[in-house]
Amino acid sequence: MEKLEAALARAREMRRAALGDAGIERTSGTSTPSAPAVEWAALPEISVSDPLARRNRIAAAIGGREASPFDMLRSRTLRQIKEKNWTRIALTSPGPACGKTTVAINLALSLSRQRDLRVMLLDFDLRRPSLHRTLDATPRKSLHEFLEGKAEFAETAYRIEDNLVVSMNATPHQQPAELMQSESTRQALDLLERAWRPDVMLFDMSPMLASDDNVGFLSNADCALLVVAAESTTLPNIDACEKELAQLTNVLGVVLNKCRYEDEGAGYAYGTYG
Ligand SMILES: Nc1ncnc2c1ncn2[C@@H]1O[C@H](COP(=O)(O)OP(=O)(O)OP(=O)(O)O)[C@@H](O)[C@H]1O
Ligand SMILES: [Mg+2]
Repeated sequence: MEKLEAALARAREMRRAALGDAGIERTSGTSTPSAPAVEWAALPEISVSDPLARRNRIAAAIGGREASPFDMLRSRTLRQIKEKNWTRIALTSPGPACGKTTVAINLALSLSRQRDLRVMLLDFDLRRPSLHRTLDATPRKSLHEFLEGKAEFAETAYRIEDNLVVSMNATPHQQPAELMQSESTRQALDLLERAWRPDVMLFDMSPMLASDDNVGFLSNADCALLVVAAESTTLPNIDACEKELAQLTNVLGVVLNKCRYEDEGAGYAYGTYG
């Protein structure tokens, strides 16, 4: 385990050195903020309407009691990544439909309400992309085309307000595992980070136990959140998945989704432990 942690830390340091600065520290306090080389404001803007938010459980767009678990998740996540100087967070789950995409959007929106943070949400479920459906906005080109050098990042992305960029796929990719572990993807992410200077990058991934798509990719992430569904994910699956994830990156915590407190009248709640 120590060897793995040392290797991950070394890879991260090399990435930071290549990027020429130290991640999230740049917007917090004493360090000089480094401006992006590209204009976030030039991207086409979308918004999350109330009906869309209600239909797709995007509570953070509405606010109120149902949004507060995401604000808690935001604060805990920010504290941990600031401490470690991390930027890149993958969200995955053991099986399908645990709520990764829903949690990723809500966390992104909650983070972006901190106006001094530049936040990016990227659809890395290249096999079964769904972010564009959840946000009801299909980009001209797909994120996988950017990763292959066939499209500009700006063609795959929209802006929500000034400080949240969402990059999505209009179509699935035929060989996601190969693309995700490729050198081309690694370089594309480094270029992206260097040019756009996000403080936090969230990767909405596919489930761990359904394919090996994420295995070769996760060394590109600083850490991962494991989203589990209270009513359907089994403990052995959580255990197996957490162990596998810990071999590949740092596990930030487990998000318990679809957890019901009928007596309180809330349809769902979220919790983490790290
Ligand atoms: N807390 C919740 N309570 C009830 N339903 C939820 C909750 N979170 C998400 N859902 C619903 O569960 C379904 C699956 O959610 P989502 O697409 O976010 O999961 P996913 O893990 O990204 O799925 P996939 O593995 O297909 O990518 C959606 O219909 C979503 O609206
Ligand atoms: Mg999903």
